[in-house]
Amino acid sequence: MFKQPEQKHLWWQTGVIYQIYPFSFADSNGDGYGDLPGIASKLDYLKDLGVDAIWLSPIYPSPLADWGYDVSDYKAIHPLCGTMADFDRLLADCHEKGLKLILDFVPNHTSDQHPWFVESRSSRQNPKRDWYLWKDAKADGGPPSNWLSVFGGSAWERDETSGQYYLHSFLKEQPDLNWRNPEVQAAMLDVMRFWLDKGVDGFRIDSLWHVIKDAQYRDNPPAPHYVEGEMPAYKRHVGAYTGGQPELHEVVGLMRHVVDQYPDRVLIGEMYLPIEELLGYYGRKRDTGLHLPSNFQLIVQPWKAVEIFAGVNRYEASLPSFAWPNWVVGNHDKPRVASRVGPEQARIAAMLLLTLRGTPTIYCGDEIGMTNGNVPPEKVRDPVAKMPGSGKPGRDPERTPMQWTGGPGAGFTTGEPWLPIGPDAEVVNVQVQRDDPKSMLAFYRRLLSLRRAEPALQIGSYLPAGQRGNLFAFLRELDDVCFLIAVNLGAARARLTMPRHLDVTGKVVLATEPERIGAEISEHINLGPNEGLIARIKPCD
Ligand code: NOJ
Repeated sequence: MFKQPEQKHLWWQTGVIYQIYPFSFADSNGDGYGDLPGIASKLDYLKDLGVDAIWLSPIYPSPLADWGYDVSDYKAIHPLCGTMADFDRLLADCHEKGLKLILDFVPNHTSDQHPWFVESRSSRQNPKRDWYLWKDAKADGGPPSNWLSVFGGSAWERDETSGQYYLHSFLKEQPDLNWRNPEVQAAMLDVMRFWLDKGVDGFRIDSLWHVIKDAQYRDNPPAPHYVEGEMPAYKRHVGAYTGGQPELHEVVGLMRHVVDQYPDRVLIGEMYLPIEELLGYYGRKRDTGLHLPSNFQLIVQPWKAVEIFAGVNRYEASLPSFAWPNWVVGNHDKPRVASRVGPEQARIAAMLLLTLRGTPTIYCGDEIGMTNGNVPPEKVRDPVAKMPGSGKPGRDPERTPMQWTGGPGAGFTTGEPWLPIGPDAEVVNVQVQRDDPKSMLAFYRRLLSLRRAEPALQIGSYLPAGQRGNLFAFLRELDDVCFLIAVNLGAARARLTMPRHLDVTGKVVLATEPERIGAEISEHINLGPNEGLIARIKPCD
């Protein structure tokens, strides 16, 4: 195996990002909503856990139709989250403790209460009319195209004032901005500069794929494999004209140009795309695209070794040489990983997240194995769950409050929590797990500390080592340090014999079963049900 040239890696390449869903993290004033002072009070916990950066889901003023992803002022703080002084203090505290802070940037749409939209909808002649996407009805009076909202129904809403329709890729309370308008571009890039000037370390860009739509508003074609009732209504069409337009790369370039004026900032783009399409968003050459187009394959792929291993290898093989990989196993939009794959496999997911090559993002609460909460109909907050005929629990279950203790309000709030506390809070919480060496929290801490101590796990090369049944294995190597990671994605014993050319003699340094630590390993890897291990092996030549 060839040795990598000396290369300086940046914090967002070597580090680990922790996603905080602010309303659900820590409530400092007893109003039932998490807030910025609450987050500030938990920075020591995060340092101790071993993460390097926090990403905050939106904290801006918002009518909360989509819980902050409907922004009514991009340059201020939602009163439920605190004040701008609280934000400045949090940022300073993070930096003092050596943590980076990443903000959510929501460019595709504003709130319908944003002054820009209030002006825009006031008349066809308003100077801000063209800041949003307004169109006349079709000849039959219906919406201008067949475009569907991601959340259900038409993406067009008729406005009484002018009789025209405006476009909303999500809720009707989230009108889409017109990114083809240079004034919109300038205003939004100015928002980025506002926060960068304050010292934030980067942005996670929301719904990036949707930002530019077809200029001719052509109808989307039907999706050939759509199954009525089984797939969300939105998947009825292929989004050929509502996202991923060629001009999107120019928009990404504009954003990238802004962050490049500041040292060491990161741009992460939220896009659920097949690997081949995703890779285009790194840019055609270094320094033109996103630093990290989000790679959600550990969330969307079936949890089967053959599929996960193939996906990892395809991603690794297709990344351009300048592109840095990244991994995610949970977020505020998808069911909790511990519910999706089960509590035992959640440890395997953590092991993969923290040992595959690339930047990991941990979703708050996954480090203690939080599962989907139970949200009775009268407590539902997510607009998606409230859509007529949704019949789905929506995204509230993965947004229930962080479980700090087994006490009232789970140590999250002294008041009435905005979403119910998870039913398992008495056993699944930071307090009980902190001193239990067998807990999920202890496991995460060990993984994070091994990763921090071993550059091979941060920046070492990746080499697939084999897969059989539910078991797969890979190597991470830097200079003369080499690790073998082997995981069993099934609930039965599994065995894999290493290919001849790899000498994997070595010792286990971390494992889901602590008694394995220190054990010798050789070419026959035997794993018990749901077992995973990391072994330090002889350097490969
Ligand atoms: C993606 C966000 O993660 C999700 O929570 C939100 O509802 C949509 N974008 C719309 O902003």
